Amino acid sequence: MAEFHDLAELALNREGQSWGNLGYWQSETEYSDACRAIALLLGEQAGLDRQSVVFDAGFGCGDQLLLWLEHFRVARVRGANLSRIQTAYARTKLAKAGFSAAATAIVQGDINDPEVWRATLDRNKPSHVLALDCAYHFPDRVAFIALAHKNLAPAGRLALTDFMLSDQHRTGSFTHRLLRWMLKRSHIAEANIVRRDLYLSQLQEAGFGEVRIVDISEHVMPGFARFIRTFRGSGKLGGSGPLKYAVTGRFLQWAHRRSILRYCLISATKTGR
Ligand SMILES: C[S@@+](CC[C@H](N)C(=O)[O-])C[C@H]1O[C@@H](n2cnc3c(N)ncnc32)[C@H](O)[C@@H]1O
Repeated sequence: MAEFHDLAELALNREGQSWGNLGYWQSETEYSDACRAIALLLGEQAGLDRQSVVFDAGFGCGDQLLLWLEHFRVARVRGANLSRIQTAYARTKLAKAGFSAAATAIVQGDINDPEVWRATLDRNKPSHVLALDCAYHFPDRVAFIALAHKNLAPAGRLALTDFMLSDQHRTGSFTHRLLRWMLKRSHIAEANIVRRDLYLSQLQEAGFGEVRIVDISEHVMPGFARFIRTFRGSGKLGGSGPLKYAVTGRFLQWAHRRSILRYCLISATKTGR
């Protein structure tokens, strides 16, 4: 059966790369480099090091798992991804790179399902839960945050990149109706997109402290839109691909220019047990 999250983004990448996020375009001009740059930012904000045990929620085709292992040299990675085809791809990628233990430690499944966490984790609770450019796609982001808190080791860190509603945005407006249409079309639950204040209190209510939210919209949304506008390989996308990316690019440009959505780098530390 066709999946919403598939291998379509391979066409945007350089040979051998398979990222699928919006990228960080401060100085990058190539899609794969921009995607790696945002993953690096996330890993740095999370404070990954050789002791880290990472649980990666929504790891795409696995490039970021390799980055945690090879660049940050983390001790272990585990994770879950809803997409069957991407999980199989990531497993092969890790095994080919010599990380066979990691290849078997990642599973296909819905991150909102507590069983998926149980099946993946053993007695060693993760020191880090990461979600790179995917929490807005989860069925229920607040429930994900609660599961991350439950499964993290004491003082463990949650780090993610995510969309928020801009403070200036008015719900009930025509713009808001357009936003709702676009969210539906993009398989994003409306309840996942909230203002910064509410996002912060959702993290605090779940038991997280030391919350840091950095607005990186300026280097994400217009950069992705510009890349899609100038992308020369649209023939490789096939089917509805060119239209899908063109619509997403224009939408992000609009949502950024009109201050509707913000894109943020978020980290928080588990308090309590
Ligand atoms: C925009 S892609 C980002 C992929 C990857 N993190 C990257 O940066 O290249 C969103 C990812 O979230 C995953 N995802 C969406 N809903 C999910 C869910 N409920 N549980 C686990 N993974 C999910 C998708 O399968 C996809 O891999």
